[in-house]
Amino acid sequence: MPNTILIGAQWGDEGKGKIIDVLTERADWVVRAQGGNNAGHTVEIGEERFVLHLVPSGILHEGKRCVIGNGVVLDPVALVEEINGVRERGFEVEGRLFISDRAHVVFPYHRMLDAQGEARKAKGDQIGTTQRGIGPTYSDKAARFGLRMCDLVDPGFPDLLRARVEEKNRVLAAMGAPVADYAEVLASTQEAMTVLGPLVCDTVPLLHAAVQAGEEILFEGAQGIMLDIDFGTYPYVTSSNAGSGGASTGSGVPPNRMHRVVGVLKAYTTRVGEGPFPTELHDAAGEELRKVGREFGATTGRPRRCGWFDAVVARHAVMTCGVDEWALTKLDVLDGFDRIKICTAYELDGKRIEHFPANVREVARCTPVYEELPGWKTPTRGARSLADLPEAARRYLARLEEVTGAPAGILSLGPRREDTLFPEARA
Ligand code: IMP
Repeated sequence: MPNTILIGAQWGDEGKGKIIDVLTERADWVVRAQGGNNAGHTVEIGEERFVLHLVPSGILHEGKRCVIGNGVVLDPVALVEEINGVRERGFEVEGRLFISDRAHVVFPYHRMLDAQGEARKAKGDQIGTTQRGIGPTYSDKAARFGLRMCDLVDPGFPDLLRARVEEKNRVLAAMGAPVADYAEVLASTQEAMTVLGPLVCDTVPLLHAAVQAGEEILFEGAQGIMLDIDFGTYPYVTSSNAGSGGASTGSGVPPNRMHRVVGVLKAYTTRVGEGPFPTELHDAAGEELRKVGREFGATTGRPRRCGWFDAVVARHAVMTCGVDEWALTKLDVLDGFDRIKICTAYELDGKRIEHFPANVREVARCTPVYEELPGWKTPTRGARSLADLPEAARRYLARLEEVTGAPAGILSLGPRREDTLFPEARA
């Protein structure tokens, strides 16, 4: 049985929530391995809409087991709220949700430092973070100053926390910013731990046993490769490895136990937050993509920046993540367009380039090289096989496969589970 890593192949918000939900049908385990509650996975089941930030969406499937791995940074208070929401909808978490004792913890002072960090940057240098404290928590992890879930269940936790709050308050005070209240942070964390404590364990042997037993694991990526701390548009990125490598380091399941990588790719491109975006549109076409595609962030509600499909970005995902196949989402959003553009390369200082530059100042100078295809001007939703799609839509799809170098194994034509086509339907 294959273990599958699912990653976002653009700047996040590719529609991973729905694809994860569909792939979960076959999985025994669903694992989150990086990021925190900066992510927002939207799942629509029937008329109901769920947005999950930290809990793997596998929790909405009876009998599936879910892991929040060591690579995740988690805000205990936010996680309890989410668990309560899941329970209210009738899903049990006891015995189904396991939280790594190695996962790092987001505290209120991380969120305060996130906000201060952004506010103190010059306009134009701001990253546009989700202000969930993600960057400062990963900074503490790398600086070996963080606290992990195993520390929260340790009897010495109050002293460990006090030392952190005092140090961070010195930094906040030096910035002239409000400081954290130790007693309040301790009380809210301890209260959250009454819910989370029983779910915390060493998830490494648990996943190892699952691998040994041949059970199927789905790794649900958060964000996307262009927000990856190593391969994204640094410094306009998140602070974790959102590419496929993060699935191993963030869960303890080694690379040679991984079998398949699915890249989720929107049929056009969107981005929230700051940073370069070569195919961004500032015209009526961009407006239409935002309106028809309902392009507003699941976590912050911010309007997303919209643009045409960028094959340079997709090829970057193929190379850095080993994408075996695409899950192509939101093709239906293009139903109304007369002409549709695909960016196949960039022009940088008069030269054609095929690969994504490391330097964001160079990326900002890149202009897309486009080819144009005719639109199909026909609703695609309701198609149950590729043969049901208009000829021009099939041609667009085939061209995306050619210019990106990977096949589309899954095609999504709407937010609901039933609006999904699989490769078997290709015949
Ligand atoms: P942070 O992860 O909150 O530090 O934000 C860093 C950058 O990543 C910002 O541009 C955010 O908008 C972006 N970002 C973080 N999480 C997501 C996500 O789940 N989807 C899309 N963008 C995200």
